Amino acid sequence: PGSPMVARTRAELRTARAALDDGDVAVVMTMGALHDGHATLIRRARETHAHVVVTIFLNPLQFGPKEDLSRYPRTFDADLEICSAAGVDLVFAPTPDVIYPDGDPGVRLSAGPLGDVLEGQSRPGHFDGMLTVVAKLMHLTRCTSAYFGQKDAQQLLLIRRMVRDLDFPVRVVSVPTVREPDGLAMSSRNTYLTASDRETALCLSSALRAGAAAAVEGPSAIRRAAREVLVHEPLALIDYLVLVHPETLQDVPEWYRGEALLAVAGRVGTTRLIDNLPVMVG
Ligand code: PAJ
Repeated sequence: PGSPMVARTRAELRTARAALDDGDVAVVMTMGALHDGHATLIRRARETHAHVVVTIFLNPLQFGPKEDLSRYPRTFDADLEICSAAGVDLVFAPTPDVIYPDGDPGVRLSAGPLGDVLEGQSRPGHFDGMLTVVAKLMHLTRCTSAYFGQKDAQQLLLIRRMVRDLDFPVRVVSVPTVREPDGLAMSSRNTYLTASDRETALCLSSALRAGAAAAVEGPSAIRRAAREVLVHEPLALIDYLVLVHPETLQDVPEWYRGEALLAVAGRVGTTRLIDNLPVMVG
């Protein structure tokens, strides 16, 4: 595959997008610092779509004032290599002033109650900012499908809800979490981890696996098994460990049987990490 076209401005995007067949364009939205999780989304999209557009945009609107926007890794040349190897047609890599020409948008999307729990509780406004840019990028790229990772389960759920609730003509496709061989979920933020943080961080995915291994015994056994792993790793400052309904994100009751989401978030060193595993309870 040749190098992808790169569009920086709306005009460049319009021209480059017009050159792709209008019928079938899949988009993979990213904030850059691409890793094999992103590459897997791109490859999945490539399998079933004539054209794949990747967006690389570090969206200030979804970062809180004390979050890691300024230190977020920026690796544009390596990102382009990955896009090129994965057969991407077009990379849209705008600056904030291209996406927000009038500064912070006064009108923006609201994630509603599902945006207030779990990640939303620790990151107020995060999901409103995320949905706002995802909506804009769907409009700008005129995509017919959009691929997102299960790694960010609450984000994925909210995007599905936005598309359904607001009638976006886009098919949302989810891709399972891609992990390092030792189980750590791939993340651009893993580059912040020191070698010892990296060891500590393994407790998150281990806890999820331990919980999933107790799935037949029901919710309290799942929660207990997962918690048991985390208490042995005091260096991981756990924000939440929950077993919730995949659509409502509410804790499932003890009698619950069926699909649930085991999700964890915590701080390791200076880095906030999240992970989750879908589990079939019962
Ligand atoms: P970012 O964190 O760069 O992730 C881009 C996409 O890659 C998301 O759909 C995310 O779920 C997926 N992804 C990340 N790590 C993954 C992994 N280990 N396995 C599978 N998929 C993975 O999520 C965002 O950017 C932003 O919020 C965005 C949607 C681009 C809006 O700004």
